[in-house]
Amino acid sequence: MALQEMEDFTFDGTKRISVNYVKGILQPTDTCDIWDKIWNFQAKPDDLLISTYPKAGTTWTQEIVELIQNEGDVEKSKRAPTHQRFPFLEMKIPSLGSGLEQAHAMPSPRILKTHLPFHLLPPSLLEKNCKIIYVARNPKDNMVSYYHFQRMNKALPAPGTWEEYFETFLAGKVCWGSWHEHVKGWWEAKDKHRILYLFYEDMKKNPKHEIQKLAEFIGKKLDDKVLDKIVHYTSFDVMKQNPMANYSSIPAEIMDHSISPFMRKGAVGDWKKHFTVAQNERFDEDYKKKMTDTRLTFHFQF
Ligand code: PPS
Repeated sequence: MALQEMEDFTFDGTKRISVNYVKGILQPTDTCDIWDKIWNFQAKPDDLLISTYPKAGTTWTQEIVELIQNEGDVEKSKRAPTHQRFPFLEMKIPSLGSGLEQAHAMPSPRILKTHLPFHLLPPSLLEKNCKIIYVARNPKDNMVSYYHFQRMNKALPAPGTWEEYFETFLAGKVCWGSWHEHVKGWWEAKDKHRILYLFYEDMKKNPKHEIQKLAEFIGKKLDDKVLDKIVHYTSFDVMKQNPMANYSSIPAEIMDHSISPFMRKGAVGDWKKHFTVAQNERFDEDYKKKMTDTRLTFHFQF
């Protein structure tokens, strides 16, 4: 990193970003400050958008989608780290740049990333009929993953204790808002737009099948050998060792992998090691209330 950039660096190991609200959704203040620009983002018809609630399998899907487009060319995918290959639309970190600027500078076809709830999606992406991939993850594992991510990532608020975070998450007072509203909003939108709605648990259970589904949606015909290659290179163990896919290139002042690695467990059911019996009962009761108005269902374990 250049010296000038280091001097601009506001993360000092303890300092966290500030947050604010955009239309009722908590966001880093830097995102709030450029909200009009984000809302007015101009999509191109061949943009492909990967949308998720944070920690639902974004990075995994990004790696799969790019390898599908590259027809399994692993070296091409290793040309740069994740955060440089896929503009993160609403993200602005002073030392790393902004997703909007990155997107503008990138030649087509672009693969974009967002965590925005459906109702805050820049309208141009729908007007241009862009293909959108949404990935959802069961909320118990999603919550645990987000908790550990907020511990290690200074570009998000400190999570507090696990007990505190449990309540914060249920109240939807985390960045990008309520998990329940997020997954439901995108679920309702999926049949009205070009949206492929996938589940982390399905990807884990039968990666080849889900990769095939993705390839079909993207419009790529891949032979079996290439599919197997993509399954291998996007497995948790291989991605964890890949410096271009494991976020190890982000300065430690922002992401401190010694607190909790970005590629942490990559499992279904890890929540059982975190939830107390009382928390699980409280969660289930709250879940029932918030999910009564949808047919959307999740697998919490295999
Ligand atoms: S982010 O910061 O929102 O972009 O994070 P995101 O990539 O959505 O989620 C990170 C979690 O996904 C896990 N992960 C994987 N699981 C299985 N297979 C592969 N290949 C894979 N790659 C990333 C990652 O480990 C995080 O989950 P947890 O439960 O914390 O391990």
